[in-house]
Amino acid sequence: MDLLDGSGLRFPADQVARMMVGTGARSGPLYRQLSDSLAELIDRGELPPSAVLPPERALATALTVSRTTVVAAYQALRESGRLERRQGSGTRVRADRGRETVSNSLLAGDHAASQFLDGPLATIDFATAALPSLDLVADVASSLTRDDYLRLTSSHHGYHLRGLTALRERIARWYSDGGVPTTPEEILITSGAQQALELVARGCLHPGDGVIVEQPTYRGALEAFSRTGSRLRPVRADEDGLDVRSLETLLRTGSPRLVYVQAAVHNPTGAVLSEDRRQRLARLVDQHEFVLVDDTSLAGTGFAEGPGTPALGSHERIVTIGSMSKLFWGGLRLGWIRAVPQVVSRLAQVRGITDLGSSLVAQEVAVRLLDHSSAASAERRSTLPGGLRTLTDLLATQLPDWTWQQPRGGASLWVRLPQGDATHLAQLALRYGVALLPGSVFSADGSTDNHTRLPFALPPATLHSGITRLAQAWQTYLERGAVDVTVTSTIT
Ligand SMILES: Cc1ncc(COP(=O)(O)O)c(C=O)c1O
Repeated sequence: MDLLDGSGLRFPADQVARMMVGTGARSGPLYRQLSDSLAELIDRGELPPSAVLPPERALATALTVSRTTVVAAYQALRESGRLERRQGSGTRVRADRGRETVSNSLLAGDHAASQFLDGPLATIDFATAALPSLDLVADVASSLTRDDYLRLTSSHHGYHLRGLTALRERIARWYSDGGVPTTPEEILITSGAQQALELVARGCLHPGDGVIVEQPTYRGALEAFSRTGSRLRPVRADEDGLDVRSLETLLRTGSPRLVYVQAAVHNPTGAVLSEDRRQRLARLVDQHEFVLVDDTSLAGTGFAEGPGTPALGSHERIVTIGSMSKLFWGGLRLGWIRAVPQVVSRLAQVRGITDLGSSLVAQEVAVRLLDHSSAASAERRSTLPGGLRTLTDLLATQLPDWTWQQPRGGASLWVRLPQGDATHLAQLALRYGVALLPGSVFSADGSTDNHTRLPFALPPATLHSGITRLAQAWQTYLERGAVDVTVTSTIT
């Protein structure tokens, strides 16, 4: 089978609408903006050769534009040789187009949005909730000397499937100091928490397995789990994190293979699992047979002072995932798995199929960075709440009907729209120069589309322009619904 051939692949209208976030031009006739966006997706191979595009009416509804706009855009793409229309089988990407790149469906996480593949756009990026790097990362990285690197390069051939021993020791010590005794044999270094999730999914799940996830949850986890053919079931969560009573109810009616939770700080809501719920959850692990995956990637970004408990405890069926990305910098591309040694060995084997280890240079930096984790948390505590205040003040004045869940950490606000749905709003917002993720991408069943996630770890001026544009988009959404809007010079 040709990996890049999209024969028979049907792209639903809502999916195409989401893929268009961050693509195309932001001015000119609307049909031209639409055809430019689709052309970009086709040329990059994200809409692969022979893929079937949604019917014009469906795409028009998903994008809140008129059908004639979509008809004109498809026509322009036929004229430029990208699309063809076949009697009875709708509109397809021509078989000889865009064969040089991979499909967007192969990308995961918050980083699937196409703007990660491009240079900076005129669009304000509210679709990502990454944290800026701390200067500490540059300070520590530049403090390493030639002798440090010589010691590293002369002592290793460079392939270290489980990770640098010094880093595994350092992370084990960090857990032990936090009250969860840990040995280096219980740590597997990964290329980010996203890879950790992928390994757990591939190592633990089989088609048909039940997986319970919070509603909402991290979209990269949803993608990793659903790709194994598992059946995802949502469970309620609120300001105190996972609703453990609802989980208990679900466990009475089924035996999931895996439960995925974010106990430390939650993406997208910023919730922190309460102490009482932590204890009840730990008891449930004892009473049932599921594997509990606790993704603590955002640990250290809580607003309250204090170390926080680093893991839910030691148990052969608890797998804890950690990351350097949120506390320090995503560009290090380092995360880890804490699990019993047998699970670590098994997941290391799974990892070896696709990857022979993470960069030892980055790991050498990480060993030293972890000595500064308290200072890093303090720095996050001194900056993140200010961004949150700026964002909520802006929302209160410019979008007073919007409500949100008060976060206790992290870099994003989980916002509820008073009416309508965020998939359509996101399309409209794009035309006002704001890239937004609809809430549906954070849920197992797509039912949180009356929400969106707004990032706040951004400069005040960016937040101001972004919310001003969003308020304009919202006004248009309320007034005009599914009517064409062309935005050119009104962007502030
Ligand atoms: C909850 C959660 N898990 C995992 C990841 C992936 O992190 P990493 O950069 O370590 O791959 C993210 C990133 O946004 C996240 O929010």
